[in-house]
Amino acid sequence: MALDLFSPVKLGAIALKNRMVMAPLTRNRAVAGGLPQAMNVTYYEQRATAGLIISEATPISPMAHGYPALPGIYTDAQVAAWEKVTDAVHAKGGKIVMQLWHVGRISHPSLLPNEALPVAPSAIKPAGKAFTYQGLVDYITPRALVASELPAIVADYVLATKNALAAGFDGVEVHAANGYLLDQFLRDGSNQRTDNYGGSFENRSRLLLEVLLAVIAVAGAGRVGLRLSPVNPFNDMIDSQPQALFSHVVDAINPLNLAYLHVVEGGIHGGGIAAPFDFASLRQRCTSPYMANLSYDKARGNAAIASGHADAVAYGVPFIANPDLVERFKQDARLNQADPKSFYGGSELGYTDYPFLSA
Ligand SMILES: Cc1cc2nc3c(=O)[nH]c(=O)nc-3n(C[C@H](O)[C@H](O)[C@H](O)COP(=O)(O)O)c2cc1C
Repeated sequence: MALDLFSPVKLGAIALKNRMVMAPLTRNRAVAGGLPQAMNVTYYEQRATAGLIISEATPISPMAHGYPALPGIYTDAQVAAWEKVTDAVHAKGGKIVMQLWHVGRISHPSLLPNEALPVAPSAIKPAGKAFTYQGLVDYITPRALVASELPAIVADYVLATKNALAAGFDGVEVHAANGYLLDQFLRDGSNQRTDNYGGSFENRSRLLLEVLLAVIAVAGAGRVGLRLSPVNPFNDMIDSQPQALFSHVVDAINPLNLAYLHVVEGGIHGGGIAAPFDFASLRQRCTSPYMANLSYDKARGNAAIASGHADAVAYGVPFIANPDLVERFKQDARLNQADPKSFYGGSELGYTDYPFLSA
């Protein structure tokens, strides 16, 4: 029988009951101390029929924050709070991995300890505005990290991975997409370093590889995924040779036997693409399971699975508005429409109150 979205699959060591993945979605509804709260538990529990949930991007350290009301994964209290989420998802038969996040230059001193400058591969100010507790303000020029500071950042990923496993997550996804720190190192629009973390593809991939190896040493490769977004212009990102760069990255990670490679196949938030790109060829190079994302619906998702383009498909906005998206796809039922006004921050409204089919 042909494979489709409802066929089980194993991504590394993680067994999924179907191939519909809830994409990572920042919702800015944590409380002081970076703690997930009761409504966050309900939200994830409601979506546990997904084959896999990828958590909202979660800062690995106080310096990794870049938006208000994010939940963290670097204190014992955060571990205890997240444990309620993983327990609820597991009790409903779901699986959940945590997306590990360092925002790099996409931040603002008002969001960082002691009003620190955001850090980045190079002191290049991104175009656009930071979301702060005081509203939207221009980004400022970040401070370029010196190479001797990078081991501490790798250590933050290690601590975050230990904490995520202690909180009961089935694995972690290293966030190297969407213009945040690891993506800032990969792409030459944001990385103009002249040391061995800049210049060649190998050098620009070095921090990512160091992070992956360190995280794998904690979790095992079968519980580590990676997210990339080769031509997503979001957060003022661009690269001069994306196809060659990301071919290099995929060749470099293939020997690691990651649980999966998760690829945003274009630009998010309707932002178009930074350059033309052949995702089929990237997929063919990749020897680990491949998770596709961006604007998939049921038909395109099934086609991607049946053709072998993807082993799993991640859905973002559809899972915001449809906690029972799997059942709705099974029944070809109508989908609830998402309300973008309640995406980032707020209450249960537009968060846990989207109706189920049965309602
Ligand atoms: C409200 C919102 C929050 C998002 N937060 C994250 C995030 O935390 N991490 C991430 O990698 N992508 C994030 N994204 C991107 C989504 O994971 C996904 O790539 C995007 O929505 C495209 O998939 P879709 O067309 O199925 O919605 C976010 C998107 C939206 C709309």
